[in-house]
Amino acid sequence: MSNKAAGRKRAGEIAAEYRQRGEFLNWFEALYATAEENPDAVPWADMQPNAHLREWLERERPDGRGQRAVVIGCGLGDDAERLAQNGFDVTAFDISTSAIEWCKKRFPHSSVHYTAADLFAPPEGWLFDFVLESYTVQSMPLELREKAIAAVAGLVAPGGHLLVIGRLAKPEARNLNNMPWPLTRAECDLFKTHGLTEHHFEDFDDGENPPVRRLRVEYRR
Ligand SMILES: C[S@@+](CC[C@H](N)C(=O)[O-])C[C@H]1O[C@@H](n2cnc3c(N)ncnc32)[C@H](O)[C@@H]1O
Repeated sequence: MSNKAAGRKRAGEIAAEYRQRGEFLNWFEALYATAEENPDAVPWADMQPNAHLREWLERERPDGRGQRAVVIGCGLGDDAERLAQNGFDVTAFDISTSAIEWCKKRFPHSSVHYTAADLFAPPEGWLFDFVLESYTVQSMPLELREKAIAAVAGLVAPGGHLLVIGRLAKPEARNLNNMPWPLTRAECDLFKTHGLTEHHFEDFDDGENPPVRRLRVEYRR
């Protein structure tokens, strides 16, 4: 078994153990804290910006100067660092304090404001011109989806943009025993019930073998 496959197995076991106790989110901190700064122990840690974010930035070329951006569930910080390159004033938060400490060690001279925070209880008054949600909602069980989508939408300032990147599936194609649980079209439509307009919905197979169905959606307020 590769180191990454072993990391995936271990992550699944930690998540299941917490889930059995009815805890849906605390396992993230347990995972990062016991990873001992080994990225192989964190299944989603590619140690480089998300390819679908990079491609979108290269295509859209947003000018982030004077714009506040936030990265939700920032993990080890690569997407936040990439957004900062476009001039955004970036805040990146994660529920795991160990993940945030790891980001600060990886990027000691970064302009990104790394902070531990819970999407479900963000600091008062947080509103951003650009919000990136990449793979965090899909890591939450279905019980938390509606609340998570409302919380993500709640961070978008008037006139602001939200970019959502993740897996996409039909409800019947989701294996509820195995994380991640891809978003469905109906779940994506919930963003529109929170004052956002869908600007561009991309539904595509990525270049992995076998290909994975993905979504990349831009909403605007
Ligand atoms: C699947 S990982 C994705 C990480 C990163 N966005 C990426 O694409 O590599 C989900 C991340 O969301 C964080 N997270 C989960 N629930 C959260 C919450 N309620 N508030 C903030 N972060 C959360 C986890 O700690 C984890 O780092």
